Amino acid sequence: MASSALLKRLARQHGTPLLIVDHDVLRRNYAEFRRRLPRVQAYYAVKANPAPEIIRTFYEAGASFDVASIGEFRLVYENIKNLPPAQRQNYIWDKIIYANPIKDRATLEELDPYKPLVTYDNPEEIRKIRRHAPHAGLALRIRVPNTGSMVELSSKFGAAPGEAADLIAAAFDAGLVVEGLSFHVGSQCTNYDNFVQALNMSAQVLEEAAGRGYALRLLDIGGGFPAPYDGNVRSFRELAAVLNAEFRRLFPAELEIIAEPGRFMVATAATLVAEVIGKADRDGKRCYYLNDGIYHTFSGVLFDHCQYHIKAFKKGPTQLCAVFGPTCDALDTICQSEPLPDLNLGDLVYSENIGAYSHASSTWFNGFPPAQVVHINYQARSRGSRA
Ligand SMILES: Cc1ncc(COP(=O)(O)O)c(C=O)c1O
Repeated sequence: MASSALLKRLARQHGTPLLIVDHDVLRRNYAEFRRRLPRVQAYYAVKANPAPEIIRTFYEAGASFDVASIGEFRLVYENIKNLPPAQRQNYIWDKIIYANPIKDRATLEELDPYKPLVTYDNPEEIRKIRRHAPHAGLALRIRVPNTGSMVELSSKFGAAPGEAADLIAAAFDAGLVVEGLSFHVGSQCTNYDNFVQALNMSAQVLEEAAGRGYALRLLDIGGGFPAPYDGNVRSFRELAAVLNAEFRRLFPAELEIIAEPGRFMVATAATLVAEVIGKADRDGKRCYYLNDGIYHTFSGVLFDHCQYHIKAFKKGPTQLCAVFGPTCDALDTICQSEPLPDLNLGDLVYSENIGAYSHASSTWFNGFPPAQVVHINYQARSRGSRA
């Protein structure tokens, strides 16, 4: 994290609320992912934080990208296309996977000329892809346990493993090519058994498909790699050791393995600085009102089930306080019991590890704009500045 002095200086310079993204941390997270999982190419899940500067930094570090909409696809395409030609590598399958199993027809038609790699999980989607994106390569998303993950995804997507081989056969019968399998263990997955079970289920499906004459070449192990929000999250090293052992045990060396990490890459890279704009004592409890809240950078409290801590730069004896955002809605409650010292209007507070699923889902509710974003240690080659 940037030092307190730097956070305060940037807040003075740019105003608040201010989200400060440290690109040294982004590069470090990417490097750790690749070092610990050397067999896995990382497709950064753009939904976690779609800032173009972040896309460029990951691209220059060697990442590929997971997109979930045509908007994200265009964003990545524009940002990697504009880099010097030497930076472009084996575009486009090696660089982008469209990993939303449900795609509208217009999206498929726009994607088709790029010969995209897309996921699917049902027969209707096969018919749609055949008609509107016949040049796409496919990855079948299977449903795997999401037990204990902070954000559960398996109720919305994923073919039952028992129907997987039939869905692979159906796509080939439709004249399409299934390149691989994909799964997602749920976001912020701290139950590493989910990964183990998902890999074993994948190995069974790959074996069954091969037995029916369909040899798939790719496995996409999705996202879910947890960010170290607190001391209860076991280390990434431990997870990587589990994954590497399962890869060796279950899969031939020629199977290409990719992943779609979002949170792990960006959560720890950003800190929010906000300002106290109101203060009241209600029923004996101190309440602070900030100029950022649930409809803005703290949207993850609602959509991501993530509890962020508010910290003060000021020292002093603390009491348990409620902290609210600036809108008129009571839902705009950041936390009900944060230990904070006595703060005055205009004092700054900050929240760490808030880079994922935060600014990405900010709104303009009540007319309050999303926080400004400043990028530090940003070294994009063809443009941009260093803060
Ligand atoms: C298809 C897909 N891939 C990747 C991700 C990123 O997951 P995470 O941020 O947990 O790594 C998500 C998150 O919802 C997703 O839906």
